[in-house]
Amino acid sequence: MYRTIRTGSPRKSTLLVGLPTGTTRLPKPLVAFDEAHGGRIRQAMKSRMFSGKEGDVVVEGDDVLLVGLGDQNTIDLNSIRRLGGRLVRKLHAMDIQALDVQLDLTIPRRIADPESVGQALAEGMVLANWEVDFFDGKASTNEPASGSLSLGASCQEVRGGMRRGIILAESTNESRRLSATPPNICVPSWVAQQARAAARKHGMKCRVISFAEAKRLGMGGLVNVGIGSSNKPCMMILEHKPARPRPGHRLALVGKTMTYDSGGYSLKISNTMKGMKYDMNGGAAVFGAMIAIARLKLPVHVFGVLPCAENLVSGDAYRPDDIITMFNGVTVEVTNTDAEGRLILGDALSWTCRKIKPTAIVDVATLTGGVVVGLGHFCAGLWCEDAPFRNQIEEAAESTGERVWQLPLWEEHRKFMRAQHADLWNSGPNRNAHPIQGAAFLSYFVDDDVPWAHLDIAGVSAVDKRDDLHVVGPTGYGVRLLSELVARTGA
Ligand code: BES
Ligand code: MN
Ligand code: ZN
Repeated sequence: MYRTIRTGSPRKSTLLVGLPTGTTRLPKPLVAFDEAHGGRIRQAMKSRMFSGKEGDVVVEGDDVLLVGLGDQNTIDLNSIRRLGGRLVRKLHAMDIQALDVQLDLTIPRRIADPESVGQALAEGMVLANWEVDFFDGKASTNEPASGSLSLGASCQEVRGGMRRGIILAESTNESRRLSATPPNICVPSWVAQQARAAARKHGMKCRVISFAEAKRLGMGGLVNVGIGSSNKPCMMILEHKPARPRPGHRLALVGKTMTYDSGGYSLKISNTMKGMKYDMNGGAAVFGAMIAIARLKLPVHVFGVLPCAENLVSGDAYRPDDIITMFNGVTVEVTNTDAEGRLILGDALSWTCRKIKPTAIVDVATLTGGVVVGLGHFCAGLWCEDAPFRNQIEEAAESTGERVWQLPLWEEHRKFMRAQHADLWNSGPNRNAHPIQGAAFLSYFVDDDVPWAHLDIAGVSAVDKRDDLHVVGPTGYGVRLLSELVARTGA
């Protein structure tokens, strides 16, 4: 795949034009354009191979590329994003180095404005261009990345959209790089280094709460979950503070960052442990979102909080039956050391409420296997009892194509998490309403008056089958969704 994808205005570039399924005559907006290009589009259209079906591509000479947009009624930002994904793989195979994007000519504004078209296309391209190649060794048979693709457009809005799309997708890929880094390298101190480096590079502040400090602060959740590993836990706080933020907003994004989850003494049996390097994908999503927010210079004051630990077994590890005291003074009976995410998040959430005093909080976590059973890889589980905030999140998710589905969080669920010998247990005695138990537990660590949303991304943060936008591995789910939410905050 390409080494880089950038915007630019190169002299010689391939024209990219799209047509919906069943187009028989050249659409009006293309007539003059076609004439200006010597009738090459009409010529390409005549190719018997071209149907306009989604994914259909016809090449006319080496300077016109006609792509199918699919059914006129189903064209949306998702289909344009997918088109970008499929296209980039073909472009690289065809050795195309520059593209002149004219898709907006045939996509009606009521479906998508030119800026959104450019953004979705570029997002799809840069997401699909990503590969896990940084561990290719001496025996690798993979083609190394090569060449560069330059994206131009005569429409200024399309160009702006493409610039935005590239930033969002590159930030998503940064998130995926962290996720894909194996747990023997990606340990808490390594994540801290990454956070510091990203802060330096993109003009954010970064604070790291060390293991010693976490102990002093009484973060019983983070400390106990991470204590069994020689790679001790820590918590990173990234801050994006624009010069003139929209007043009245302090948004906090909190991400579960378990660099590895063996389950601890409630050990994950046989093959359920494999893949638990992805148990940091919530934190990775927050990390990527903070980079996007900083690079886009969004005018909102935002904090990214990454509680980070490794859940292992050792003579120092915490055990089932332990009773621990959390940062906010709530006591928890550990019924299962594999329900560790809610313990590190509980501390992070109550620390965030007390120290940051945010106006709203979103946490993102690969929290439960139950959400994978319930919702599969189709969408994340969403818990949010604040209707206006939930609507904002649902609208942002709709536009980025990172789908969410709301599940309930009632007083009955909260009661279910109360234990006999401590205030709470970290897991109920059975798996009933499993993903909701996680959300209910977390609710005890968020101040009542702060709008709060919990996203369980266990099913969507990595794929085990390649699709139009992703190779097998982390998807970076949440980066674009959180960035979009921030962009809309107070707008
Ligand atoms: N990290 C897991 C959740 C998970 C499972 C993520 C599968 C991705 C794929 C979490 O820490 C966990 O172990 N959850 C337990 C909770 C249970 C012990 C209450 C689970 O879902 O089984
Ligand atoms: Mn676990
Ligand atoms: Zn976990």
